[in-house]
Amino acid sequence: MMTENLVIRPITEEDRAAVISVEGKSMPHWRYVERVFDQFMSHPTGEFSIAELDGQPVGIAKFTTMPEGSAWVETLRVDPAFQGRGIGKSLYKRFFDIANEQGVDTLRMYTGMQNKVSRGLAEHFGFTLEASFYGANFQFDGSHPNKSHGFKPVTDQTTAADLLMPLSDEWNGFMVMNRTFYRLTSELCGYLVDHGRVFADGAGNVVAFGARFMPDVSQHIGLFGGDAEACLSFAKAEGQARGAQSLACLFPIAATETRAVLQNAGFEETPAGFIVMKGMV
Ligand SMILES: CC(C)(COP(=O)(O)OP(=O)(O)OC[C@H]1O[C@@H](n2cnc3c(N)ncnc32)[C@H](O)[C@@H]1OP(=O)(O)O)[C@@H](O)C(=O)NCCC(=O)NCCS
Repeated sequence: MMTENLVIRPITEEDRAAVISVEGKSMPHWRYVERVFDQFMSHPTGEFSIAELDGQPVGIAKFTTMPEGSAWVETLRVDPAFQGRGIGKSLYKRFFDIANEQGVDTLRMYTGMQNKVSRGLAEHFGFTLEASFYGANFQFDGSHPNKSHGFKPVTDQTTAADLLMPLSDEWNGFMVMNRTFYRLTSELCGYLVDHGRVFADGAGNVVAFGARFMPDVSQHIGLFGGDAEACLSFAKAEGQARGAQSLACLFPIAATETRAVLQNAGFEETPAGFIVMKGMV
């Protein structure tokens, strides 16, 4: 391990190109930092961090506070030329330092089911598996009929909580958008209402719907309940109306009915699933 000259500090505007480059090297297929850089920088209570070894940018990580007070640790990337030298662990330690400073007691992360290094690193810091999800995507080709539907945004937290909280067990206690696993709590219901992301039709059907970032790339079904056909039909119509390329939904691996419903509605599953892990500070 060679981390004597390792410095971890908050990212500044001047680091933009270096940050994008680190992600490009460490993630050949799944990149989004360029699109979310400004949003990550403007997050008031999180930290977007960079690791520099002898002044050279070698790693990045993001600490994001969640509506119910936990933290979501994400976008951890180390330049492959510098992996296996303790830089990922140093970025994790930074997560714990920030959590301690902020009085945050719970951290969560997600990774691909096959990402043994990412899971092993989390386990090194005491994280345990909380849930496993599959992913499914529906590609818009412009031909989806814009069916009329009775769904409208829910405008108060109580109604949203009444509709969403009973779905908690079925969705393993999470609502997922942009692969961000939000713990389903009444605080989250308020957050979703504030962001216009809960839709209901008055007949008991409800969809948490929207995007945390990159709304043009994909809109997300965070969870849904009631008549699945009505919910998915709304999500397709709304997603297409918003000009997204695709519609995504992550669902618990035990939710076999949801899986079948998505398949029947033309969604294609992602090659591998995802795990969400929890760590205590
Ligand atoms: C995940 C990643 C950030 C790790 O960074 P790193 O600097 O190489 O990690 P470190 O050297 O600090 O720590 C390595 C630790 O990971 C764990 N680990 C490594 N290989 C492992 C394996 N095959 N199985 C289980 N755990 C493993 C161990 O805990 C190891 O610590 P140890 O060497 O003391 O045993 C880096 O591999 C990366 O950027 N990968 C691509 C992006 C990515 O997958 N990000 C994660 C979430 S999407």
